[in-house]
Amino acid sequence: MSAVADVRTIGGLYRTRLRVEVSAAMGDPVAQVMSIPRGADGHGRYEQVRARGDLVRGRSGLCMTASYAMCNEVLRSDRFAAAPTSAVRLKLTPPSWQRTDVLVHPLDDSFASANPPEHTSLRRIVAPWFSPQQMRARRAFIEKVVAEHLDRLDRAEPVDLIDEFALQVPSKVICEMLGLDPDDHALFARWGIEFGATVDGARGIRERRRTRFLLAELTDYFDTVVEQRQKHPGDDVISKMASAVEEGSMTRTGLLATCQALLIGGFVTTANIIGNAVVALTQNPEQRDAFTADLDLADQVVEEVLRWEAPAQYSVRVARQDTHLAGEELRKGTPVVTLLAAANRDPAVFAEPDRFDINRSNARDHLSFAAGPHYCVGAGLARLEGQIALRALFERFPELDVAGPARYCPSRVIRGPRHLQVRCR
Ligand code: HEM
Repeated sequence: MSAVADVRTIGGLYRTRLRVEVSAAMGDPVAQVMSIPRGADGHGRYEQVRARGDLVRGRSGLCMTASYAMCNEVLRSDRFAAAPTSAVRLKLTPPSWQRTDVLVHPLDDSFASANPPEHTSLRRIVAPWFSPQQMRARRAFIEKVVAEHLDRLDRAEPVDLIDEFALQVPSKVICEMLGLDPDDHALFARWGIEFGATVDGARGIRERRRTRFLLAELTDYFDTVVEQRQKHPGDDVISKMASAVEEGSMTRTGLLATCQALLIGGFVTTANIIGNAVVALTQNPEQRDAFTADLDLADQVVEEVLRWEAPAQYSVRVARQDTHLAGEELRKGTPVVTLLAAANRDPAVFAEPDRFDINRSNARDHLSFAAGPHYCVGAGLARLEGQIALRALFERFPELDVAGPARYCPSRVIRGPRHLQVRCR
């Protein structure tokens, strides 16, 4: 894209931002959520949305809900559709050096943005690789990766838990599942971190360019991987998708986007189970003592941390037709933001919702993996990795403590520490 076009689009970006800021200053709770500083705790503003009712319409027409019942309904209802909503999709064209002539986006172009019946058949191609049997078969590998990385934490001085452990484990696991070259691992970590930072939209010209380069790198990388799998198919999900492309049941763009979604979705959010759990457990010593006394509580810790701090804070749906919701009339095409993180703290469902309590009996009802047809395909893998990692971490380092404040991912959607210094012994 030429510099002139960049400048033109950037004018649009700044105008939109200015409108949101003005509406926020005028007390619009929807705009106030959309202008939460990246990396800041959003729960205070989510509560303002809840205080205004089950469904709140912002001045821009965007609707938002913090209600558990309403989020659940929107996510499950066929009156609402998933749609490519990524704010980076502003006429992005590939940079000149890119191998392929399209820029593929992991969310907008994969089955994450498709709807039934297309969504159902695309998801069926991938889902068997995340079945309970597959997860049982992966357990030993995950335990091995976790054990190797615990050694890196075993130092007298503080160490960054996220860089050395929380990001490493899930990215190595998904890399192995997709049959990717472990030597490319540093590349994946960079892509995941950059994607997490821009998934809620580019803020300025530099971020737009960075996003374009990131998507170009990802698209090129998987274009080469897919070519190799077509020549030498293996027993892996990428080879399976490549054969679906040859049979005509998947597009090549869909295949490239799904590879990206599995790679990035596979570790960026999962790392936050570990980071958020360490923050929660160290802030709540009685909960941490209960866990270290009975490490079989690891699954409950994972569910409660997913409820307490959703790694993906919200999800968006669009009304498929003119419809009603919470007594409001919604025109076809109206976007509805389901605040998953706020639904998980809805006092109508979770008693004392701000309290982190690993013995909470209904923690597993959280909406952190969404609900309905787009329920996270990798939920079983994320849970297993979280359980194995946290159990092993607190078994090996029962005295583990934070050695400084967490620095959060610079994102409004992805919530978890980007850096967290810990002292393990
Ligand atoms: C803590 C970890 C994770 C969280 C919190 C999470 C969260 C979510 C959420 C909220 C959705 C629904 C998005 C929407 O409906 O708009 C989703 C879908 C998805 N997730 Fe995850 N995810 C996690 C881990 C994973 C893993 C490990 C993988 C794959 C290796 C993965 C791959 C996907 C894919 C492909 C979809 C699209 C599913 C569909 O549209 O049918 N996620 N995830």
